[in-house]
Amino acid sequence: MDQRRIRQNPHIRELTSEVVLTHKKLIQPYFVVDGITHKEPISGLTEVYRETSESLLRQVELDMEKGIRKTLLFGVPKAKKSKEFSFDFVCDQISLLKKNFGKDLFLSVDVCLCSYTESGHCGFVNEEHQCVDNELSVATLAEQALQFAQAGADCVAPSDMMDGRVKAIRTLLDQQKQSSTLIMSYSAKFHSKFYGPFRLAADSAPKSQIKDRSTYQIDPSHFNDAFLSSERDEKEGADILMVKPGLPYLDVLFRLSQSIKKPWAVYEVSGEYAAIELLAEKGLISREQAHLEAWTSFFRAGADMVITYGARHALDWINKN
Ligand code: PBG
Repeated sequence: MDQRRIRQNPHIRELTSEVVLTHKKLIQPYFVVDGITHKEPISGLTEVYRETSESLLRQVELDMEKGIRKTLLFGVPKAKKSKEFSFDFVCDQISLLKKNFGKDLFLSVDVCLCSYTESGHCGFVNEEHQCVDNELSVATLAEQALQFAQAGADCVAPSDMMDGRVKAIRTLLDQQKQSSTLIMSYSAKFHSKFYGPFRLAADSAPKSQIKDRSTYQIDPSHFNDAFLSSERDEKEGADILMVKPGLPYLDVLFRLSQSIKKPWAVYEVSGEYAAIELLAEKGLISREQAHLEAWTSFFRAGADMVITYGARHALDWINKN
């Protein structure tokens, strides 16, 4: 025997393991939707809902009982527009959450326009040139981030993939005395097919002449683009960088976290989370153990934190397994 001596019982396996999972390293996402009267289930994401303002507070309270303190909020407004968006609905949710839970709750808020625009794109569509206009979008994203910070968000998380938005957000936040607000940048966000359930939840699928997000999200084959985007976002003032999705991009997470010494988040996106849920529903795998295995792989690959729809179950699952 050589390697099997350290595998022979749970004691030696625990002592020699290189990753110790804890719910304290996980971030729970929420969807809050204006204009619905009851919370709605999301296909593929068991026990995750499109929440009303009231059900959101109740859900956060329940999750806090399960040890959840770190959250990421996605807001969905009532009506789509092509310009002059109002961020009041989400600002109201931020204030409410902060009023109820104060400093016990770490609240990150998604900064993006895809739930707001008629086109379903993450920025303004320039009809004349049939493109998503970078400069125009960045100015509005910075304004959105500022309003969220002023409403009480601890962290703003731009997921739009426009160039220069981190710099614009950091500059505006600092000018407006919000210098303690963190920026978690989706610096290595790929043009992935794994966002399906999310787009139903956030009502954000692209539906214009520009049929997908390939002109602003990173091509799945381009590591160097992910590297350069992340390096740039670090220089522009991002506090936390991110790889998204997770499992299909573990190599990216590993290489980036080795070369850029910033805190790294990984987003276990809706499609990859749902894949495990659906396998488990079919009785083909153990739901809990498969999720724990996926989370372990993120930390092994170099993540400092994981955004996952299952965060609220982590304490139970980790204790049981
Ligand atoms: C877009 C955004 C997306 C996700 C988070 N922010 C989807 C997209 O780019 O279309 C995906 C998250 C998930 O799938 O869980 N602003």
